[in-house]
Amino acid sequence: MSKCSSGTCGSKKASGCGSAEAAAAQQNTAIAASLDRIKNKILVMSGKGGVGKSTIAVNLALGLAGKGYRVGLMDVDLHGPDVVRMLGLSGRMDGARTKDGKMPPLQYNDQLKVISLESMMENRDEPIIWRGPLKNQAIRQFIADVNWGDLDYLIIDAPPGTGDEPMTVAHTIKDAKALVVTTPQNIALADVRKSMNFCKHVSMKIIGIVENMSGFVCPHCDKTVDIFKTGGGEQLAHEFSVPFLGSIPVDPRVVIAGDDGIPYLSSGGTSPAIQAFAEFLVRVEKELPVNVGAIPMVKPLAKAGSSCGCGSGPCNPTTCDC
Ligand SMILES: Nc1ncnc2c1ncn2[C@@H]1O[C@H](COP(=O)(O)OP(=O)(O)OP(=O)(O)O)[C@@H](O)[C@H]1O
Ligand SMILES: [Mg+2]
Ligand SMILES: [Zn+2]
Repeated sequence: MSKCSSGTCGSKKASGCGSAEAAAAQQNTAIAASLDRIKNKILVMSGKGGVGKSTIAVNLALGLAGKGYRVGLMDVDLHGPDVVRMLGLSGRMDGARTKDGKMPPLQYNDQLKVISLESMMENRDEPIIWRGPLKNQAIRQFIADVNWGDLDYLIIDAPPGTGDEPMTVAHTIKDAKALVVTTPQNIALADVRKSMNFCKHVSMKIIGIVENMSGFVCPHCDKTVDIFKTGGGEQLAHEFSVPFLGSIPVDPRVVIAGDDGIPYLSSGGTSPAIQAFAEFLVRVEKELPVNVGAIPMVKPLAKAGSSCGCGSGPCNPTTCDC
């Protein structure tokens, strides 16, 4: 047994410290086994709060799932977990384990598995007061103890900034790649620059930058008006020599849909925001392609009870034979 990592017990016997080390080693093995079955890990991050990270993460996961990929969505914003609410998922994880001792994630549909601390909490309105090591441990458990199975993409929604959560992801998931979200204003861009430098510092590859809230889509005529500036995200991408993945305009329907738990950007349709998001999705796919042989189906997915895209109006996609 090696020396106690805390450096305080001074014991080399199989004491409490030794068993803690053994447990950590066992957890490392479980983490490695889980990650081995996940082809692409995408950390959605930004130096700035409220720029649309969770909105992008949720719609990216749904969009990729809708294309037939096997997707996982992991909410590591432990202080402000929003993913479950945005997806309208009401189920709670009760801690029940499968035979192999793993926790089944929430299942949004056949293609999309979700995990968030919020779905494990008794009272969703209670604030969570956690410090670094506990956050680190929660994220490690999200990977080690959850039955993710084989995934094409794992999307990870991070809180703003470059604190404990993105740092834990960088240390635990060595091949995670960052997708950086910004808005066009200089103040956001300055903060986002810090995220880019964080990625350099921890040697995390950057898939690219997406500029959200880029122009405003009038809900009456669907025309786009540049109420904020646009183009800052693209400039930042050039500055750091990373791909620019697109601009998504402000559309009031994104807010309403997010609040109602029915994500809008990935819902299919012809509005400028939905189209911009579809182009962004294609660019992400191009940056992180998955073997074509691994794609099982192309039928658009929808939740039971909503339209499956057959054109016959609301129908249940699990029973509709369209
Ligand atoms: N393109 C958009 N058009 C209109 N509203 C948007 C758009 N993108 C995000 N929003 C809205 O902006 C608000 C903040 O978005 P979101 O929660 O995704 O940001 P965030 O970066 O995850 O925030 P936090 O830093 O608190 O985690 C939400 O109300 C969301 O609906
Ligand atoms: Mg968020
Ligand atoms: Zn108009």
